[in-house]
Amino acid sequence: MNDAPLFDWLETAARFSLPGPGVSRFFLTEEHRQLIVYLRSLMVECGLRTHLDDAGNLVGRKISNGSDNVLYIGSHQDTVPNGGRFDGMLGILLALSAVYELRDINLPFNVEVVAFGDEEGTRFNSTLLGSKALSGIFDESALSARDEQGMSIAEALHDFGLNPEKIPSIARDQKNALGYIEAHIEQGPVLENQNLPVGVVSSITGIERHAVSIKGQAGHAGTVPMHLRKDALVAASFYVQWVDTYCKETEDMTGVVGKIEIRPNSVNVIPESANITIELRSPYKDVRLRARKALSMLTSRLVDAGFAVNSELIYGQEGLICDDVLVQKLEAAIQKENIPPVKIYSGAGHDALAMAALCPVAMLFVRCKDGLSHHHEESVDINDAIAAKRVLKRFIRDFI
Ligand code: GLV
Ligand code: MN
Ligand code: MN
Repeated sequence: MNDAPLFDWLETAARFSLPGPGVSRFFLTEEHRQLIVYLRSLMVECGLRTHLDDAGNLVGRKISNGSDNVLYIGSHQDTVPNGGRFDGMLGILLALSAVYELRDINLPFNVEVVAFGDEEGTRFNSTLLGSKALSGIFDESALSARDEQGMSIAEALHDFGLNPEKIPSIARDQKNALGYIEAHIEQGPVLENQNLPVGVVSSITGIERHAVSIKGQAGHAGTVPMHLRKDALVAASFYVQWVDTYCKETEDMTGVVGKIEIRPNSVNVIPESANITIELRSPYKDVRLRARKALSMLTSRLVDAGFAVNSELIYGQEGLICDDVLVQKLEAAIQKENIPPVKIYSGAGHDALAMAALCPVAMLFVRCKDGLSHHHEESVDINDAIAAKRVLKRFIRDFI
């Protein structure tokens, strides 16, 4: 049986992007539309029956004769701005490579390869729309999230030729769902440090995002005395410092102020307003709740100092412990490839978080060069990708 040309596929998929460096492909954009056409052609080549659902997921089904059960495998199509070609896409194409190489085998269950539309949340700040829809936890309020041009997800879905009103009907039946497995670039240095090509994810972080808007007072940068200023950017800098210090001092926690927008953004005007996003991550809810409390104390201090501050929780996703049985099956598949199985915690979010509402989930991580990800130089060695494909193929073949 021929090997699937995985790296050629990855290279072609990376072309569906805004101009570089790296890959910039956002949910429900022209680049996304073009990628869907390409992925659909690969799915057909792999012997899958395809459909694009109303949440923007492209699904390819390997049909089993005589079973309604489904094993789901997938990852996401979207990227961060100037991201790498592996984050998300590697998982989709590894799944396709594995089923391509199993195309002549009739499995006792169906396999659905799902290319989710929106995992990064780059365009709308809100994310996992597709995996939540599939797993039956879709929340209609997500449709009103807007991009920077003011377009809502609902409007963008309509423009894409999809019907958001029909999203609830995408939800799959728990009783037929055998499990969800996702392969993904590790995005950290653990496997590289242990000199291993792949590893199994033990748990996945919870994530929350806050949008904070701060209003101060604009004025002449030269004439307003320093002690009389209400500089919104200076106020925002307290959040930046707080997030960094708090997360460094707190075990099991990471955080970032990833976005900032100031107005009027002029060399000689005191910034009047600053809008920032704060992202806090921990697998433990109580750790995040304590951080949230500390965050609101900082907001109160800035309000007392005369700023108008509005802080809103715009996204929340609980963390997850991966399913024991699937983890063991993955470990067994890894061992059969003569690789020592190791467990890794995922500090990144994944579609697996949402799929856990439908069925047991597990993830396979693939070694990442220099731990670098969400960066255009993100890189995976071809031999590691081939090892991951073999593990995945074995996992699917031996699943029942
Ligand atoms: C996705 O990569 C995330 O963890 O935000
Ligand atoms: Mn990512
Ligand atoms: Mn990803």
